[in-house]
Amino acid sequence: MEKEKVYCDLIQQLQALFDEELDLVANMSNMVSLIFERVPGLNGTTFYRWKNDELILGPFQGRVACMHIPLQKGVCGKVAFTKKTEIVPDVHQFPGHIACDARSNSEIVVPVFWPESNRFFGVLDLDSPLFNNFDSTDATYLEQLAPLVFGIKKEDRM
Ligand code: SME
Repeated sequence: MEKEKVYCDLIQQLQALFDEELDLVANMSNMVSLIFERVPGLNGTTFYRWKNDELILGPFQGRVACMHIPLQKGVCGKVAFTKKTEIVPDVHQFPGHIACDARSNSEIVVPVFWPESNRFFGVLDLDSPLFNNFDSTDATYLEQLAPLVFGIKKEDRM
């Protein structure tokens, strides 16, 4: 299946799943589960939340993950600093990359912001055992999809 189709279906499913559900842990958990199941070629899908000036592990799928990531450390720490999506075609070439799972060869990390205030919430991190598994299509859709985690309130519906 084409990547665009995978993401469009995923967005529809997440919207239905999070309709009226505003609990963040529940929504983050189901979001990483669905992404892990549907997006091809993943060995990990992880939420990190920004708390006490560092990233702390949130709901995830995959192998045991690193629990605390300081600002500017690894790919996630860089995104926490720049607040910009990072696509890493070969993690072994990324200075300071944190290898939670030795199978990972490429990675994409997108920043997530609280709705309304736009404050930094954390990051969504996808890992792949394939080199060069992520591109701008993943970035565009993941940036659109990640904020669904905050749920859809009745009054926010169009
Ligand atoms: N590789 C990430 C660390 C998180 S794990 O991959 C789940 C990084 O370099 O920030």
